[in-house]
Amino acid sequence: MGDMRAHKKFRSQEWFDNPNNPGMTSLYLERYQNQEYTRKELQSDRPVVGIAQTGSDIAPCNKIHVFLMDRVKAGIRDAGGIPMEFPVHPIQETGKRPTAALDRNLAYLGLVEVLHGYPIDGVVLTTGCDKTTPAMMMGAATVDLPAIVLSGGPMLDGWWNGKLAGSGTIVWESRRLLAEGKIDYEEFMERVCASAPSLGHCNTMGTASTMNAMAEALGMSLTGCSAIPAPFRERMAMAYETGRRIVEMIYEDLKPSDILTREAFENAIVVNSAIGGSTNAPPHLQAVARHAGVDLNVKDWQTVGFDVPLMVNMQPAGEYLGESFFRAGGVPAVMAELRKAGRIHGGCMTVTGKPMDENLEGRESRDTRVITTYAEPMRENAGFLVLSGNLFDSALMKTSVISPDFRKRFLSNPGHEDIFDAKAVVFEGPEDYHDRINDPSLDIDEKTILFIRGVGCVGYPGSAEVVNMQPPDAMIREGVNHLPTVGDGRQSGTSESPSILNASPEAVVGGGLAFLKTGDKVRLDLNACTLDALVDDAEWEARKADWTPPEIHHQTPWQEIYRKNVGQLADGGCLELATAYQKVRRELPRD
Ligand code: FES
Ligand code: MG
Repeated sequence: MGDMRAHKKFRSQEWFDNPNNPGMTSLYLERYQNQEYTRKELQSDRPVVGIAQTGSDIAPCNKIHVFLMDRVKAGIRDAGGIPMEFPVHPIQETGKRPTAALDRNLAYLGLVEVLHGYPIDGVVLTTGCDKTTPAMMMGAATVDLPAIVLSGGPMLDGWWNGKLAGSGTIVWESRRLLAEGKIDYEEFMERVCASAPSLGHCNTMGTASTMNAMAEALGMSLTGCSAIPAPFRERMAMAYETGRRIVEMIYEDLKPSDILTREAFENAIVVNSAIGGSTNAPPHLQAVARHAGVDLNVKDWQTVGFDVPLMVNMQPAGEYLGESFFRAGGVPAVMAELRKAGRIHGGCMTVTGKPMDENLEGRESRDTRVITTYAEPMRENAGFLVLSGNLFDSALMKTSVISPDFRKRFLSNPGHEDIFDAKAVVFEGPEDYHDRINDPSLDIDEKTILFIRGVGCVGYPGSAEVVNMQPPDAMIREGVNHLPTVGDGRQSGTSESPSILNASPEAVVGGGLAFLKTGDKVRLDLNACTLDALVDDAEWEARKADWTPPEIHHQTPWQEIYRKNVGQLADGGCLELATAYQKVRRELPRD
């Protein structure tokens, strides 16, 4: 079947139909006929659509995509394309040690090689668990073939004893109850497992729901894609429509570089504040922006996103879970409300082939308990502050740190309402924290800030979600559930802990955190957006001169390659050398 739609010669025809090189063409062609393709269709001038499969037995958060695949392929075929599914290196947040963060860049590299080296004209990016979404968009940005995100969607809502039990958040709550002696190991396990009742990714507004919302806000998925729970029939329909749409995008030659603009990233930052999104979004979006060649800076999170209100009442910032968010209208309802308030660049091109404005037409919140209006939000100023000082060049601060309780405990000097003083207690990574947190000699009190270092991209490696440390058990029993924490690692998107995180540069590469000692006084100045160790300059310089970088032990070859090439969290934690490769599709690989 020849297609009547006008288009340039498809890239895949360089493999499958090149009379100038019968030898290679026959080899490319013959093996694909062993399965479901005929020579006639492979040489029929129809686009080949890759489907990047991130689900597997070992990646349960994305396994829904295994079951959606029939629908994606049907959509592709009905629109005249030829589907070719291929596997992606798994990135399972809850399964990979030392951390799934190590594998985001590995999956990215693998995707770039597949998209560049195989006869693919465009790609469906299946996403779900935290890092699968950025990894897929980073790869698509590097290659710049037409690409569309298909989210897997959250699990159904979890329930425990008649109450909503959200992914991750139930872990933090149960850890406190265990520390207080109110539950035992058995109940701990049952509570946490109750939060995962079906296929899908985390049902809270953790990093997974956040990153899929980011893909939609960027314009990389069909309107309304991200919030549909994995087992719902709407998810099946979305899979089919996504398959149909990618074929059209290939004919239109609508590429990531047409969609991933500076304005699209500003939309994503604004949406992240409004949904109460994860602190993992900044490094992931930074990475996508860098691979797309878009100028974005960690400071943009404050300038563009800080004064945006929280409009989504979903755990961990609020009460509800994914099913309610979907029924209330999901990301389009949030964006429509933000657009009315003038906070969205409506002209941004999207995968629908239309600007964002048109996609949002007629969308609105169907339940203002779950998605509020812009005028009456859950909280004002819901974005991140970006701090600096002698401990780091940049770190993110969740504004929920600044609770009335926090103000009371750390206010140093009435009349200077933005200045807080505290004592530092420093841990060398999570093992040291677990060994010593209950050691009375540390003298941790209500005016202590807990620091953790050695947990950034190079140090861990991959950067660990360990900054959300809980106070000593004895303090929790007295009712102090949170102490502020600071670190060069990350924190789970489902955590509600007050924290200052993603400190860059990290301690092991000589960032200021390396020179801090337990007992030092530190000062947080919210007006100046600084956090400093109050150590005199001569002493600080002496500590620097004394410092030797810690010895680093690699356990696998990838860990070594990763550490040698990775940048800091503020810069997206990218493989630095990879950011130089832009629009890779322009050059065909050699035969
Ligand atoms: Fe996979 Fe949360 S652990 S989505
Ligand atoms: Mg996580």
